[in-house]
Amino acid sequence: MTLVAAPLALAAAFGIVTFLGSGAATGAAPSEPVDGAELFATQCSSCHGLDGLGVEGRGPTLEPEGEASADFVLRTGRMPMATTDRQAHRGPVRYSEEEIVALVEHVGMIGSGPDTPNIEIEGADVSNGGELYRLNCAACHVASGAGAPIGGGRQAPNLLEATPTEVGQAIIVGPGSMPVFSEFEPQELNDIAAYIHEALTDDDTTSASRFGGAGPVAEGLAAWILALIPLVALTRWIGRPKDGRDHPEDAAGPDGDDGEPSIDDGTEDSELVST
Ligand code: HEC
Ligand code: HEC
Repeated sequence: MTLVAAPLALAAAFGIVTFLGSGAATGAAPSEPVDGAELFATQCSSCHGLDGLGVEGRGPTLEPEGEASADFVLRTGRMPMATTDRQAHRGPVRYSEEEIVALVEHVGMIGSGPDTPNIEIEGADVSNGGELYRLNCAACHVASGAGAPIGGGRQAPNLLEATPTEVGQAIIVGPGSMPVFSEFEPQELNDIAAYIHEALTDDDTTSASRFGGAGPVAEGLAAWILALIPLVALTRWIGRPKDGRDHPEDAAGPDGDDGEPSIDDGTEDSELVST
């Protein structure tokens, strides 16, 4: 009986799974194709213009941009910018996958910039990537990838969140005040991306925890608080008479007084002044 029931149950389960699966697939299908031009008009044209050629004082022309820079700014949450007076920053991604693809295609038609490079870090030469990184990138992003201010109120960001594809995009696009590096071979892009991904983010746990984690900070804070408690008590004890003279209300505090002016305060003050 169980010999018969088991295959039957299996078949029934399989039937339910395939039924649910096909139901989910057809449920997702009818979503409308996203119109990139329309989305650009509502989301981007206030700063870049309907034609993408820029708006004085709000956003630059996208003529020198392309699919790589559009994909980069949308997937790192840099665009749409909230304000125009600061550098674009990594932030939450604002669009669905279909919307990103449509916007990237639209910006690709406006501009003449490069397409997204195909980055493959599997089997890349990490030590060559490290050499190229130190020569070309460390001046701004520093050796650990933690980033640093580069002047003019601009900041070279921490690289630990960037995906290998984003590293490749940033190198050929030169976002914001980062220079464009057009001289690298495709293999060299892979090597640099692999170095940043493996050496900076994965293996070097000390740099990751130093810049990403809260461990050492929390420990330091605990040490500070432990050292501060007796110190504060000591200064309060030593400082009491003096505090009383400079701020009569404060002197009343530690005595359990509520700080309201009273006859007691008056006598205390006059006692202190007379000594
Ligand atoms: C509030 C204004 C504003 C909005 C809205 C906005 N942008 Fe931008 N965008 C800017 C500014 C300013 C820059 C220049 C940033 C810089 O130099 O750091 C810029 C730069 C860019 C760049 C070039 C990136 C680079 O540094 O190489 C692209 C591509 C871009 N925007 C695409 C878009 C898209 C697509 C949208 C709509 C989803 C959008 N922007 C919405 C203001 C805006
Ligand atoms: C002159 C300084 C400078 C140099 C040199 C430089 N960068 Fe940058 N980099 C920047 C700045 C500034 C930004 C922020 C751009 C913006 O405003 O969006 C940036 C952004 C990036 C980002 C995006 C990070 C993120 O999480 O959003 C990556 C990845 C990156 N750079 C990689 C590189 C690599 C790899 C090199 C070397 C080939 C390099 N950079 C060289 C200044 C520099």
